[in-house]
Amino acid sequence: MIAILLGPPGAGKGTQAKRLEREHGLKQLSTGDMLRDAVARGTRVGKLARAAMEAGDLVSDDIVVQIIAERITEPDCANGFLLDGFPRTVAQAEALDAMLEDIDRKLDAVVEIAVPEDILMKRITGRFSCAECGAVYNEYFRPPKVSGRCDVCGGTRFVRRKDDNPETVRQRLAAYRAQTEPVLPYYEKKGLLRRVDGEQPIGKVASDIDRALGVEGPAPPAC
Ligand code: AP5
Repeated sequence: MIAILLGPPGAGKGTQAKRLEREHGLKQLSTGDMLRDAVARGTRVGKLARAAMEAGDLVSDDIVVQIIAERITEPDCANGFLLDGFPRTVAQAEALDAMLEDIDRKLDAVVEIAVPEDILMKRITGRFSCAECGAVYNEYFRPPKVSGRCDVCGGTRFVRRKDDNPETVRQRLAAYRAQTEPVLPYYEKKGLLRRVDGEQPIGKVASDIDRALGVEGPAPPAC
């Protein structure tokens, strides 16, 4: 399966993409994670992307399209993948169509995780993640079960993202409204768009996404 998770900053794309990879083996391809890794390693791409990311603006289409075009031809994507944070402009969506055509694959579904803006700021500024395995938590909505210890790997070191400050979040939301929202009608016209209410608790969002993607498990036995 090839699918896309779309939604504003803080909607829960990363949380759900990591879960889908763990539970259903759908390889997560997050352009945000790839760009942060490039910045941390100081690569050419990282140097080009850094200023835009720190300001809350989008990195240029050319850079992210090239990253994804190379990544989807790697062997771990042969059985499909889940795009998280890409495409973010109509130009990126058109480039994705062209690259999938080149490798004779097609997009199966696009899931929009919809969350009102007033909730997103608290989600993002409360976010932190495990420095070892990347599991995502939230000081208000999703703390680790045991304080200070990662639920997934037991790690005890946590990190916060540099762009998760209120000023940058406001710019990221503005970029989403101006440049990414127009991607929704692009996929709606193709009959690929499904909408999930991302304001619900994480487990309920998860089951709605699974249903939208057709990967839900068997219903629990009636009692
Ligand atoms: P990116 O890393 O993609 O960030 P983003 O889109 O801003 O999204 P976030 O990672 O902030 O949020 P998320 O939806 O993954 O939410 P999460 O699951 O963490 O991009 C960063 C930057 O890179 C961009 O600004 C841009 O500069 C650049 N970039 C990346 N891709 C690009 C592209 N294609 N083109 C150009 N530039 C690009 O959840 C958030 C918090 O909420 C967590 O704490 C979580 O625990 C909590 N939470 C999740 N779900 C729920 C729920 N249902 N209820 C309560 N809390 C919840």
